[in-house]
Amino acid sequence: MTLAHSADTDRELTLPAPRGACPFSPSPAYTEVHRAAPLTKVSLWDGRPCWLVTGHQQTRTVLQDKRFSADARVPGFPFLSPGRRQLLTKAQPSFLRLDDPEHARLRRMLTGDFIVKRAEAQRPQLQKIVDEALDRVIAKGSPADLVRDFALPVPSRVICLLLGVPYADHEFFESQTSTLVDLSTPPEQIKAAMGTLNGYLTELAERKRHEPDDSMLSRLVARGELNQAECAAMGMVLLVAGHETTANMISFGTLALLRDPGQLARLRAEPELIKSAVEELLRYLSVVHFGLPRAALEDVEIDGTLIRAGEGVLCMLSAANRDELVFQDGDELDITRDARRHLAFGFGVHQCIGQPLARAELQIALGTLLRRLPDLRLAVPYEELEYRTDKAVYGVRSLPVTW
Ligand code: HEM
Repeated sequence: MTLAHSADTDRELTLPAPRGACPFSPSPAYTEVHRAAPLTKVSLWDGRPCWLVTGHQQTRTVLQDKRFSADARVPGFPFLSPGRRQLLTKAQPSFLRLDDPEHARLRRMLTGDFIVKRAEAQRPQLQKIVDEALDRVIAKGSPADLVRDFALPVPSRVICLLLGVPYADHEFFESQTSTLVDLSTPPEQIKAAMGTLNGYLTELAERKRHEPDDSMLSRLVARGELNQAECAAMGMVLLVAGHETTANMISFGTLALLRDPGQLARLRAEPELIKSAVEELLRYLSVVHFGLPRAALEDVEIDGTLIRAGEGVLCMLSAANRDELVFQDGDELDITRDARRHLAFGFGVHQCIGQPLARAELQIALGTLLRRLPDLRLAVPYEELEYRTDKAVYGVRSLPVTW
């Protein structure tokens, strides 16, 4: 078999590529690249070559192969901006940016808190948080910004409750998080935001050491296996990873349904479809939209293409989730489809630890919203909406609605 040449780029394409006219679809450039090959060598913004993976099967292959590292300190690791380089190469990486066995050691400390059974038991608490947020929206009256008034506060309250972070501090940590996930934030600002958040979490962990409670952070501190920096890194990854992702799925998911009256009517008529609707929205919207970065530790051959040691790879979940080999008419939103093979939570050892919780939150938030506001509709022309194209987590910037 002749292996693809690995020295130059295969295509004139610079990552990240801009979105096209449809805000729900991945960049048309990825679709075009995918039509030619599911694995293509392109350029990063800084001119460095990087492999773009757009196929569903190839994405799974890369993400479960230990020869691809998630550690940003490994040579060839692809960064999507100078700020991302600053963010991901910090002195104390979280387990998201570590390989096994270190990754597994740290992840294991949290698995009990995120099992499906635990998320199911948390449903009454989640329902209460969602209902209270919606009570406030209704009391304030229409129109409301669904992003600010509902989609952001719900996961924020949930993660505060689990982690033991005071909700009174939510504006502070939401603004730091928002700075961190913005691709255009310059490295100095990233460094400052990380320092501030790190200082906050270190202090909080110290407080839990002296005044323990039943929160996850308190239990982590009490195990006595983590040093101060490791505790803060754990707190930071949970705070950042669990918040913007879920929040954007709630608001952008609502918009996708409002834009598709047939699907919306079906879901209202058959609320038991909420589980499959959430899976389909996760697939269709793929809010983690810049691709999961990895670096090859050794030469690896995938489908006859040679990826050399020290080369970077970006697994474009948004493209893999539209792969026609797995999802027929993948560009269509179909809440009755079996979308469970989607890769919106990643794949392999780093697959999202918070997915049972995220699923429960999304099912409750979207289901309750549609049930309690049967007349929900956009309060501005659709064409006026703006999108989070420059953020690591994609979605709609604000969503004015009325009912
Ligand atoms: C990992 C997506 C919600 C915590 C990941 C990854 C993805 C993802 C794609 C894999 C990253 C990689 O392989 O490089 C999402 C989406 C969510 C969501 C779309 C909501 C809809 C949550 C929640 C939490 C959470 C609610 C926790 C409260 C984490 C953590 C990791 C992770 C800690 C790192 C896992 C590891 O490296 O072993 N998530 N996530 N996520 N997620 Fe989520």
